[in-house]
Amino acid sequence: MKVCMIGAGYVGLVSGTCFADIGHNVVCVDNDEDKINTLKKGDIPIYEPGLKELVNKNVKAGRLSFTTSIREGVEQSLFLFIAVGTPPKENGEPDLSSIEKVAQEIGAAMNEYKIVVEKSTVPVQTGKWVRTVVERFSRQMKDFDVASNPEFLREGSAIDDFLHPDRVVLGVESKKAEEKLLELYKPIDAPKIVTDIASAELIKHASNSFLSMKISFINAISILCEKSGADVLKVAEGMGTDKRIGRAFLNAGLGFGGFCFPKDLKAFIGIAAKLGYDFGLLKEVERINQEQMLGAVAKIEDTLWNLRDKKIGVLGLAFKPNTDDMRFAPSITIIKELQKHGATIKAYDPVSMTRAKTVMPDIEYCDDAYQVAQGADAVILVTEWEEFQNLDLKRIRDSMRQPVFLDGRNVFEPDKMKELGFIYSGVGR
Ligand code: UDX
Repeated sequence: MKVCMIGAGYVGLVSGTCFADIGHNVVCVDNDEDKINTLKKGDIPIYEPGLKELVNKNVKAGRLSFTTSIREGVEQSLFLFIAVGTPPKENGEPDLSSIEKVAQEIGAAMNEYKIVVEKSTVPVQTGKWVRTVVERFSRQMKDFDVASNPEFLREGSAIDDFLHPDRVVLGVESKKAEEKLLELYKPIDAPKIVTDIASAELIKHASNSFLSMKISFINAISILCEKSGADVLKVAEGMGTDKRIGRAFLNAGLGFGGFCFPKDLKAFIGIAAKLGYDFGLLKEVERINQEQMLGAVAKIEDTLWNLRDKKIGVLGLAFKPNTDDMRFAPSITIIKELQKHGATIKAYDPVSMTRAKTVMPDIEYCDDAYQVAQGADAVILVTEWEEFQNLDLKRIRDSMRQPVFLDGRNVFEPDKMKELGFIYSGVGR
C-alpha cells in the first residue's frame, strides 16, 4: 500500500521506515532540505539503534524514498500520515501550527480519496480541525477520511516497538478507513484497538500520563524507603508481581525526562483544564518528578557540607540510555542546580556529548568515566548506560578526591560499594 509520511523527525522516520520494511511503498516528506539530502545520502540525522541499516535496506529495495514536496507525496499515496512536531509553547500547550500547515498543503494537493492519519501526539479534538482545514483547502472536496493512529515508540527501542507493539490503536470515522488501516497493519501481529478519533487521541495522553504517574509514584515511595530503611527495589518487586500493577515503569531514579513524558504531561493537564477539569493528580506527578531531580543535589550537598568550588562528576547526560536525546534530560536540571550552588561540573556520556555541549557549554566534557572521577568530590550516575555497569570501581574510587557516589539509577549494590570504600547512596535503598 502507498504511504506518505509527512515529517521525517523521530516518529516519522522510524514509522515510515518500518512501514516500508513490512512491505509498503513509503515516501517520507520533510520541509528541511538538509535533512532530506542527508537521508538521500544514506545517513540518518538521529541516533536510533538499527535505524540506519533499516533505512538503507528499504531504500535499496525501492520501498522507501525521500522528498521535500508534500504535493508529490500526497498525489502518489493513499495514506497521508502527519508526523510533524508539536513542540510546547511557553504556556505548555502544544504548538499545532505545523499540523495546520500540513493539513492546508494536503488539502491543496488532494487529487482523489485519501486517509489523513494523525501520528503526532495531539490534543483530543485535533482530528476535527484537520478535517475542517483539509476540506477548506481542497475546495470542499469531501471524499477523504481522517484517522488517529498514536505512536507508542520508545527511543532506543523504537524499531522493535513498532514491529512488535502491545497494541495498535486506530481511531476512525468510517468503515472504509477502518478496513484500509487494518490492511495496512496486517503484517503486524498485535491486537488492533479500533475506536472513534477522540478516544484514540485520549488513549495516547492517558497512557503516557499513567506511565509518568507510575514513575512518580515509585519515586515518592523511594523517599519513604530512605526514611524507613526499606529497599525500593524489593518494594517494586513486591508490588510489581501483582499482575494488576505490573513491574514495568516502577524503577525509582532521578525522574523522567525526554521529549514525551514531561511535554505530554503538561499538555494533558492543559487539555483537561480547557475541558473544564482540574487534573490535580497529574500536577502532583510533575511536582514529584521535579523534586526527585533537585533532591539529588540536596543529597550531595548533605554529604559534602558545601557545594561551593566542589568538583562534581556526572556519568550519563542523555535522558535515558541508548539515545543521544538531551531534551528535558534530568541531567540538565541537576547540573544547573549544582552550578547554582557554586559547584563545577565534569561529565561524560557515550553518545550525547555533542548535543549536550549546545545546551551546557560551561561544563568540562571528559573522554570516559575515569576522567570524570579524577579529582572529583562526588560522582553522580544520572543515566544507566550499560558501559557504566562494568566500570573498574576501585580505579574510580582511587582517583576521586572524596569517594562520594550517588547512584541515581540504582545500578550498583550498596553493600559492595560500601565495601569498596565509597560513601554511597542509591535512590530509595
Ligand atoms: C515514552 C513512552 O514510553 C512511549 O510510549 C512514547 O511514545 C514516548 O514517550 P521515551 O520517552 O522514549 O518513551 O522513553 P521511556 O523509555 O518511556 O522513558 C521515559 C523516561 O522515564 C526516561 O527518562 C526514563 O529514565 C524514565 N523512567 C522510565 C524511569 O525513571 N523509571 C522507569 O521505571 C521507567
